[in-house]
Amino acid sequence: FQKTMMKRGAFIVLEGLDRSGKTTQAKKLADWLKSRGETVHLMRFPDRDEPFGKVIDAYLKKEIELASPQALHLAFSLNRWQKAGEIRSLISLGTYIVCDRYCYSGVAYSIASGLDEKWVKCADIGLPQPDIVLRFDVDTDVAAQRGGFGDERLECNELQKKVLIEMKKLTDERWKIVNANDSMEGVHNQRRKQEEMGKMEGEYSYDIEKMS
Ligand code: TMP
Repeated sequence: FQKTMMKRGAFIVLEGLDRSGKTTQAKKLADWLKSRGETVHLMRFPDRDEPFGKVIDAYLKKEIELASPQALHLAFSLNRWQKAGEIRSLISLGTYIVCDRYCYSGVAYSIASGLDEKWVKCADIGLPQPDIVLRFDVDTDVAAQRGGFGDERLECNELQKKVLIEMKKLTDERWKIVNANDSMEGVHNQRRKQEEMGKMEGEYSYDIEKMS
């Protein structure tokens, strides 16, 4: 009598400031995991195709106004809640999710924008928890020089500095810090050298129930 169990996947989140190179590194990480034979699903928040994400997208592009910063915060959170079930089921089916931003951006950006810390954290309680968070640290001056900075709302230097402070406060033992001032390849190799993946393998025996 043999009970077959499906290997659980893993939920990997990349966090950092705007222009820290997260999006590029998320793709590189996904390709690398695929090359090792894993099933990988790339995700990002805000997910601008989802209904609440469309509102966020229009707001960030300055096409619409929102009545309050609280409404914006909740839209970002709703956008994640819309995907919570999908995240849980993909992981239980053995998929690796590589996710560009998650609730830590939600909390850090909203606190940096002046919202109450306690209130801000409530909306995301109960979302699936990542197995690992990679924080891409970039100097705000380096970030400001990278292409496209300043096109959307929230991309001002002053706010970014505050976001970094808040993001650092959220960092715990599940997080790994990557110096993102380096070139694209340099950052990717640095991340691999740190053998974060090796560390993760020991962790994906977690029970799905423990995720939220
Ligand atoms: P993006 O550039 O990664 O698409 O993110 C758009 C902006 O939204 C970026 O400035 C970070 C911000 N943001 C929040 O303020 N709250 C959130 O919950 C998320 C996911 C992003």
